Amino acid sequence: MSGRYELHCHLDGSVRLSTLADLAPGVDVRARAVAPPDVGSLHGFLPFIDVALDVLQTPEALERVARELAEDWRADGVVHGEVRFAPQLHTRAGLSVDAVIDAVSAGLAAVTGVRTGLLLCCLRHQDPSVSLEIAATAVRRDDVAGLDLAGDERRPGAPHREAFDLAHAAGLPVTVHAGEAAGPDSVWEALDVLGARRIGHGVRSVGSAALLSRLRRDAIALETCPRCNVLTRAVPSLAAHPVDQLLRAGLRVTVSTDTRTTADTSLDAEFAALRETFGWGPDEERRVQENAAAAVFAP
Ligand code: ADE
Ligand code: ZN
Repeated sequence: MSGRYELHCHLDGSVRLSTLADLAPGVDVRARAVAPPDVGSLHGFLPFIDVALDVLQTPEALERVARELAEDWRADGVVHGEVRFAPQLHTRAGLSVDAVIDAVSAGLAAVTGVRTGLLLCCLRHQDPSVSLEIAATAVRRDDVAGLDLAGDERRPGAPHREAFDLAHAAGLPVTVHAGEAAGPDSVWEALDVLGARRIGHGVRSVGSAALLSRLRRDAIALETCPRCNVLTRAVPSLAAHPVDQLLRAGLRVTVSTDTRTTADTSLDAEFAALRETFGWGPDEERRVQENAAAAVFAP
């Protein structure tokens, strides 16, 4: 196996700062779009994505940032990247949800040398009827590889069940952000109520031996994003991150960035930090890449 896999990457949190500066002249994009080290929580972190959402409201901007993300993946050694976004957040200037997805698809298709896939995000704070519309769009299109639930984990996922049932009925795979700000119960809900095959982050699963057994038994991939997890205080420090323990315990651990700009990271930076903190070498990185390869949604 050669080449990296990135399964958990948000388009709106991964816009190059130089591009943001271009699209939002006069805005101090570093101050507005990069979460400071003391941001301290997921709900404190998420507003740093807003400045990108303000400008990603045209087909040109969406196509550009998708293309640049695929270029950044290639430069970061990524051979397979799955990008996620909530198209319903890009309709403020009148674009339809389908036009948003068309633009992102076109941007990704413009880059060779990296396989890409699209995941659509439902959002915990939105009305479940919006999630249902996003799921219906996802199953209707042939360029969408999966469905996600993102946003502030202080809100439950269960109200969005109908959207996820629709995805299951159509055979569309599902990942859910859980076990990041909230505890093991949020991961159980993602598995048992929403039918997740992968868990976004999931790092708080370490609080429950029964949950770890279930994740291992069903080979559920954990999309950990170590540097982001430290920023949002899902873990107190990288040294306290369970990624190494979970990998050694035989869980399907994968490593992604979450947000290349908001969390100021890359896979190069993630694996450098893991080498430094846990003494990882080529063997650990190979196992993580094999885990991710086994968990891809995009065909
Ligand atoms: N959207 C962008 N990053 C996120 C995260 N880490 N958790 C939930 N929603 C997000
Ligand atoms: Zn995420």
